[in-house]
Amino acid sequence: MDWGLKNRLSRIIRPDGRTVMLAVDHGYFLGPTSGLEDAAKTIKPILSYADALMPTRGILRASVDASTDTPIVLRVSGGNSILDEDLSFEGITVAMEDAMRLNVSAVALSIYVGSPNQKKTLLNLTRLVDEGQRYGIPVLAVTAVGKNMGRDSRYLALACRIAAELGAHFVKTYYCEGFEKVVKTCPVPLVMAGGKKLPEMEALELTHNAIKRGAAGVDMGRNIFQSESPVAMIQAVRAVVHDNATPREAYDLFNSLKVSRKSPGKPKLKAVSASKEELGRH
Ligand code: 5RP
Repeated sequence: MDWGLKNRLSRIIRPDGRTVMLAVDHGYFLGPTSGLEDAAKTIKPILSYADALMPTRGILRASVDASTDTPIVLRVSGGNSILDEDLSFEGITVAMEDAMRLNVSAVALSIYVGSPNQKKTLLNLTRLVDEGQRYGIPVLAVTAVGKNMGRDSRYLALACRIAAELGAHFVKTYYCEGFEKVVKTCPVPLVMAGGKKLPEMEALELTHNAIKRGAAGVDMGRNIFQSESPVAMIQAVRAVVHDNATPREAYDLFNSLKVSRKSPGKPKLKAVSASKEELGRH
């Protein structure tokens, strides 16, 4: 791996080998997703707690402060919408040249293994990897799962391994029974996708299970920005990912931070320890 590519990836996956990515790219096929109607307002208070932000090009330009230090993992695939029967027909939506102009730390695309558009999306991946290698930009492959496709370890291990074999520098996939098999057979770092909104404790348990079974972190959206307290939730997720907190400890932290918004309380875990500032980025 070239120095520039390694350097960009190391801004996303922190020195402890872990990352908390904040996904806000939902609008690329879902339109105004609940919690992201005013994306700028949602992103602003949580951005500094994320190790990386995953937006689309439009949201990045319109809704993210250009002075941020948070690395950007830019969603560069799309072309479909929730109105389509089959969501797998994606193309590349951003030229690598524009991604570089936007100073991104990585680009992300979805691959649809086993779908009618498997070949097209896998060739999208190889094209991005070739361009990424040329310019030092890492590529995140998101193993998207269609409506009628399973999310078991056999399928997800297949999709993640293919992504890695074709050159993805890191991979995002769903948690499943036997997740450790998916991690073990994927030779590049694997981050867990959050999925639909769960009660906070369950989302923290999911995060803990993924980390325990070898994930390098999470790329989580709705479970953070749809939380009753997104700022408290992202810090609780950080505590699990970076401080090895148990779900209970992280949930207590969530509650103490949530409460402390009204009346400052003493968090059980030092919340600031999970922030970027303390990780020494500045
Ligand atoms: C869709 C994506 C999204 O970034 C991601 O799934 C959204 O995050 P979450 O599911 O946690 O809300 O990659 O393919």
